[in-house]
Amino acid sequence: MSDQYRTVDGARVGILMGSASDWPTMKKSSETLESLQIAHESNVISAHRAPQRLEHYCRTAPDRGLAMLICAAGGAAHLAGVAAALTHLPVLACPMKAWSLEGLDSLLSMAQMPKGVPVATFAIGSAGAINAALFAASVLGLSDPAVQERWRHYRKLQSEAVHELP
Ligand code: RP5
Repeated sequence: MSDQYRTVDGARVGILMGSASDWPTMKKSSETLESLQIAHESNVISAHRAPQRLEHYCRTAPDRGLAMLICAAGGAAHLAGVAAALTHLPVLACPMKAWSLEGLDSLLSMAQMPKGVPVATFAIGSAGAINAALFAASVLGLSDPAVQERWRHYRKLQSEAVHELP
């Protein structure tokens, strides 16, 4: 079953998408992790089109060294909730603007998880995709000083780029 998804040695974060059509947005999550030198892997594994593959991926994720999953989906966006049901790892949810409602359907599907199986839901689209990666960096930085240093540097550069005068 593991030959049906891509693994990366040393990966700490697994990005999952419901469809390849989510990649243009989630590429930004991957690029953000890349810029912070956080090893990660990216896969398209739909919760409704490939449920057995998703189960296998989530159940083996902790033993493979993944610390958290970033799940992106659109529409009735159940990928993050199903992944969270299949692993104790933290799940960060990225709502995609899919084919209607500007992504509000995805946002509510993710944010409105019933109590007991949480997912941390981010903003719709690119902002959420990038913020999920930054959030992953802030959490991983708690136990990895090198990641924390890079995350603090990122924040410092961002602050310096803010000008008070036009
Ligand atoms: C979801 O439906 C995917 O996450 C995607 O955002 C949306 C549309 O998927 P496709 O029809 O483009 O495959 O499952």
